[in-house]
Amino acid sequence: MPNFLFCNYHPQVLKETLVRHGFTFESETDTEVIPKLAKFVFDKANEGEGAQPVTFSQVVLEVMRHLEGAYALIFKSRHYPNELIACKRGSPLLLGVKELNEDINSGSAFHDAKFLSMDGHSKELFLSSDANAIVEHTKRVLVIEDGEVVHLKDGSVSILKFDNDKGRHSGAHSRPSSVQRALSVLEMEVEQINKGNYEHYMQKEIHEQPESLTTTMRGRLIRGGSCKAKTVLLGGLKDHLKTIRRSRRIVFVGCGTSYNAALAARPILEELSGVPVTMEIASDLVDRQGPIYREDTAVFVSQSGETADTLLAFEYALENGALCVGITNTVGSAIARHTHCGVHINAGAEIGVASTKAYTSQIVVMAMLALAIGGDAISSQARREAIIDGLFDLPNRVREVLKLDHEMKDLAKLLMAEQSLLVFGRGYNYATALEGALKVKEVALMHSEGMLAGEMKHGPLALVDENLPIIVIATRDTCFSKQQSVIQQLHARKGRLIVMCSKGDAASVSPGESCRVIEVPQVEDCLQPVVNIVPLQLLAYHLTVLKGYNVDQPRNLAKSVTTQ
Ligand code: G6P
Repeated sequence: MPNFLFCNYHPQVLKETLVRHGFTFESETDTEVIPKLAKFVFDKANEGEGAQPVTFSQVVLEVMRHLEGAYALIFKSRHYPNELIACKRGSPLLLGVKELNEDINSGSAFHDAKFLSMDGHSKELFLSSDANAIVEHTKRVLVIEDGEVVHLKDGSVSILKFDNDKGRHSGAHSRPSSVQRALSVLEMEVEQINKGNYEHYMQKEIHEQPESLTTTMRGRLIRGGSCKAKTVLLGGLKDHLKTIRRSRRIVFVGCGTSYNAALAARPILEELSGVPVTMEIASDLVDRQGPIYREDTAVFVSQSGETADTLLAFEYALENGALCVGITNTVGSAIARHTHCGVHINAGAEIGVASTKAYTSQIVVMAMLALAIGGDAISSQARREAIIDGLFDLPNRVREVLKLDHEMKDLAKLLMAEQSLLVFGRGYNYATALEGALKVKEVALMHSEGMLAGEMKHGPLALVDENLPIIVIATRDTCFSKQQSVIQQLHARKGRLIVMCSKGDAASVSPGESCRVIEVPQVEDCLQPVVNIVPLQLLAYHLTVLKGYNVDQPRNLAKSVTTQ
C-alpha cells in the first residue's frame, strides 16, 4: 500500500487536494470528502502495471489515517461486493447482533455474557449510531470503540483493533489485534420507541414525565419508619461521596438543555453541599482552556452521553486530574463508560430532538446528588426531609400541571403569529426561563430569549412595549416579592404580560385584566423548576404543531451532536 500525499488532515485541505486531482464536489459538507478520498486512495493504489490489488480494509484504513475530528462511517463499494466496513472515532457506533431465531421480547435468553462469533450466517447484523434504531430488532449489541474496524465479508464478521494514531504519525498502520468482547444487552423496551397514542414523540415524552420521574427515583429514595431517617442512595456514587464532599469546587459541564438542568440544580447543590458550584458550557470551557484542578469534581451532564463538546471537555478535565462524574440517560454511552463514577437518570429513550423528560429527570438526579453530598447534618435535616417528601410527591404534581395542556394550546393560538417572546426568571427559575425559551426557539422556530429578571433594568427593559409578549415566572420562593416588583415595572411600561404563579396567587401577581396567568402547583422551592417547565414545554409543542413545523426533528438540529 503506497503512502499518500496528504500531510494535513483538515477537511478543507483534503478537499482542495482532491479538487486539484480533478474531483468535483456537490455539497459543502465534510462528509462528501470521505467517499471521494476513498476513491482517490483506491485509484492511486491500483495505478500502474502490475499493482497489487488493494483490499477494502486497506482503503478504509488509509482514509481513516487522513481524517481528523469525530466520525462514525460505513463503507460500501461496488469494487468489493458482499463486503461492508464500519469504523469510528469520537462518535458512537453500535453493532446489533440478532440470532435468526431470536425473540427480542425475551431478554432472559441473553443474560449470559455472549461473544460475537465470526460466522454471521445465522445472524442479522445492524450498524447504528443510536440504540433506538436497533432495539426493535435486537437487544444484543457490541459497542464499537475508537480505532476498531468492523468488517463484514461473505457472511462472516470480524472486528479488528488498530492504533490509528500511531499510524498517523509514522505513516504506517500498527499490527491489528482481533477484538473479543462480550455483547451488551440494551436496557430498553421496544415500546419506548413507539409513539403509543400520541401524535409526536415530543408530546408523548412531555406527557410521560410523571412515569419517567418515578423511574428516575425508583430505589434511590428511602423513607423509613418513624425512627429511620429519610435518605438517598445513589449506588454509582457511593464510593466517591467523600471525595466529592472534600472537593474545592463542583464544576457542572453540559450543553443545551443539559446545561440548563444543571443550572436549575445549582442552588440546592450549593445550599446542601456547602461546596462552591460553578457552571461551564462545554464548548466554552474547552475554548478558554478554563481552570480545572485535581481538587475539583467535574460533573458532566448529557442526555445522550455522546455530545462531542461535552466529551472534549471531559477529556480536558480528566487530563487535569479532576474527579469526573457522569449524569446521563444512555447506558453504555461514552460518558457512562469513561467517567470515574456517575448516575443514570433512567428517563427511558428520548426520541424527540427537543429534550423534555430528560430535563426534568436530570434536575431530580441532581437534587438527589445534593442530598447525597449534603450528608446527614442535623442543621439541614428538616430541609432534606422536606425535599425527599417533595420528590416522592413530584410525579403527582407533574400529573396535575399537565392538565394545563388545553390552556397552553389556547395560549399558543394567541402567540403563534408573534416574532419574539421573552421569558423572565430568577433564582431557582432562571434555568426555567432559559429552558422554556430554548424549547420555543428550537421547535417553534420563534425567536425567544430567557432572561435573568435581575438584569431587566440593564438592557431588556428597552424592548418592552404593548406588542412583545413576556412570560414572567413568579412562583412562590424567596424571590417572589422581587418578581412581583418586576411585574409592576413591566406593567407600568405597558408590557404584554403572561405570568406563571403558584396556584391561588393569581390575584397577587396579576397587575390587570390584560395580564394572562398560568397557575401551577406549588412544590418545594428547589423542585419547582420541574413543575414550571412543563407548561412551557406544552406551549412550545402546540406553537410548533399550529405552525405546521416538524416537532420531533426541527430544522437543522440533531438529537445527539457528535461533531464539534
Ligand atoms: C443537542 C440537542 C439538545 C440537547 C443538546 C445536549 O443540541 O438538540 O436537545 O440538549 O444537544 O445534548 P446531550 O445529549 O449532551 O444532553
